[in-house]
Amino acid sequence: MREREMTAIIDFGAQYNQLIARRVREARVYCEVFAHDTPWEEIQARRPRAVILTGGPASVYAPGAPGVDAALFQAGVPVLGICYGMQLMAHRLGGAVTKGERGEYGGADLDLLETSELLAGLGPGERVWMSHGDLVREAPGGFRVLARTANAPVAAMADPTRRLYGVQFHPEVAHTPGGQRLLENFLYRIAGFRGDWTVSSFIEDSVRGVASQVGSGRAVAGLSGGVDSAVAAVLVARAIGDRLTCIFVDHGLLRDGEAEQVTRAFQGLEGLRLVAVDAADRFLEGLKGVTCAERKRRIIGELFIRVFEEEARKLGRVDFLVQGTIYPDVIESGRHGASLIKTHHNVGGLPEDLGLELVEPLRDLFKDEVRRVGAGLGLPAELTGRHPFPGPGLAVRVLGQVNRRRLDTLRAVDRIVTAEIREAGWYGRLWQVFPVLLPVRSVGVKGDRRTYGQVVAIRAVQSEDAMTADWARLPYELLDRIAHRVVNEVAETTRVVYDITPKPPATIEWE
Ligand code: XMP
Repeated sequence: MREREMTAIIDFGAQYNQLIARRVREARVYCEVFAHDTPWEEIQARRPRAVILTGGPASVYAPGAPGVDAALFQAGVPVLGICYGMQLMAHRLGGAVTKGERGEYGGADLDLLETSELLAGLGPGERVWMSHGDLVREAPGGFRVLARTANAPVAAMADPTRRLYGVQFHPEVAHTPGGQRLLENFLYRIAGFRGDWTVSSFIEDSVRGVASQVGSGRAVAGLSGGVDSAVAAVLVARAIGDRLTCIFVDHGLLRDGEAEQVTRAFQGLEGLRLVAVDAADRFLEGLKGVTCAERKRRIIGELFIRVFEEEARKLGRVDFLVQGTIYPDVIESGRHGASLIKTHHNVGGLPEDLGLELVEPLRDLFKDEVRRVGAGLGLPAELTGRHPFPGPGLAVRVLGQVNRRRLDTLRAVDRIVTAEIREAGWYGRLWQVFPVLLPVRSVGVKGDRRTYGQVVAIRAVQSEDAMTADWARLPYELLDRIAHRVVNEVAETTRVVYDITPKPPATIEWE
């Protein structure tokens, strides 16, 4: 396989560090995130062409503050330190870092002091986003101060001879409009990347990689109806054809028409073998009387595995299991050293005791890249462009008891919500939008009669990565249309409410 040019991102634990990786990928440069305590020799062995040191919550003076091997700064590899990363660089190379008295959080105007490769194309008074307690008061010997702000005497610094660069502000966030430009200056002008990390090069490399991993073996893939498992399966099918069998376990908790959509998309793919199992009755039976969300997740997860195993055993000899693991799962599961953030019990997480070797063709990709690869492989836009959907499906959106009747009510509402949101051109602007069926009844008046009916909450959020999210400011007219249609067309409902809580402290889903 052709060796990929790579940027190493050393993670000092800021909450949004995945954003840096995503911005680098948007510049068509491949990158990987390493925990800060990964030995430098290990990172160096991967031959990074550039290194980025991220921000982080520590102070360089705190006991046990995370550091880096000094050899990094002598390696001749271009290094960009961001926020804590710059403070660390300054501290290690003899500059002065002081404790900020107040800290600085929010927008600031950049005062450019001299022209530089790093800040080329950024204008005077450029807005940048600051979020720091400590600051660099004096750059180390050999460095030039490229810019300052009212609060930060060293907002950007460079030692072009040693190829070391630092910025106090955050180029990765949307509040720094010139941030992408700065990162591209660093990657292209300073580090010399060509920007050739593209969907088609990924597909080509990865088809070759899978073909060589699987050899003449046979593989099985579980389809959940979601984007990741679908794209992983198609990619593997392209590499090994009908030696892959896809098993689609329909747990009966999908939205209207979704199961048919998956079956249609996959039946149409040449060479791919599809086994579709309608297991709705078994799942509903298992969920009978269960109201606790975590128990629902566990029951669904376990049943999914059981049904999948039964089908897989019917296939005879199988050596490999295809998983739709993506890069945020890898980073968050700590397999790359970052601390454990999320422990969602994912449906589709299959047991190790099947004795199968894993094939995870998407484990280097972010979600938006997975969507582009899916499109590049010819999957329909309705599948690749779909909002994230939880593995346990509508079971965690029907709060309380899950049964066919309540699922049907929620499906009918979901159909209306999705149609109206699409019609208004909002679907692509949202991270997720969905209704939730609440476990309370509320009074209403229909005709001349008082009725007691179901309450649905509408959740519509915008987010970059689901770690944080804000409720969408949908137009009143759109909300009005949705509410009208729901209470008129879905007889069981009497009331529609709109959820206006950000994450944190609320989560995106209601259970
Ligand atoms: P929360 O509700 O934790 O959700 O803010 C963050 C993202 O994860 C999705 N989600 C799940 N995905 N299994 C999944 O595969 C689950 O049990 C699960 N719970 C939440 C949620 O839809 C959002 O995109």
